[in-house]
Amino acid sequence: MAIEWNRNLSTGVEWQDRHHKELFKRVSSLLDAMSVGMGKDELDRIFTFLDSYFTVHFDAEEQAMSKYGYPEMMDHLREHTSFIEQVSALRREFASGPTSVLVVKVQRLVVDWLINHIGESDKRLGTFILKFETDQHLRD
Ligand SMILES: [Fe+2]
Ligand SMILES: [Fe+2]
Repeated sequence: MAIEWNRNLSTGVEWQDRHHKELFKRVSSLLDAMSVGMGKDELDRIFTFLDSYFTVHFDAEEQAMSKYGYPEMMDHLREHTSFIEQVSALRREFASGPTSVLVVKVQRLVVDWLINHIGESDKRLGTFILKFETDQHLRD
């Protein structure tokens, strides 16, 4: 199942878009690996590779929110935390062997989350960051 980042998901902030594109790439390789029935070790490796980038990306957004005093920070962080928890729950389920039901669950969770979170919450954050940076630039 090919999933791709598209222009509608752009937040307007260069680093956020760059990170999101990379997340889509990593999620795609996980989905590809699952669809060809890859072994447990390989899946585990890809899950780790995906997790590591989510950590990098969530840290970057968290730093920006705290630096600029983003008013929706708590809600936004809650969305990140709940996503990480859901992915690790799925990963634990995978440990007892991949099934096609699980593969569909991962597709739904990850793809829906990426599209909804990026398309709504991250876009609002991006608009805030851009406005803050523009105002700051005008003050300088
Ligand atoms: Fe994001
Ligand atoms: Fe986010």
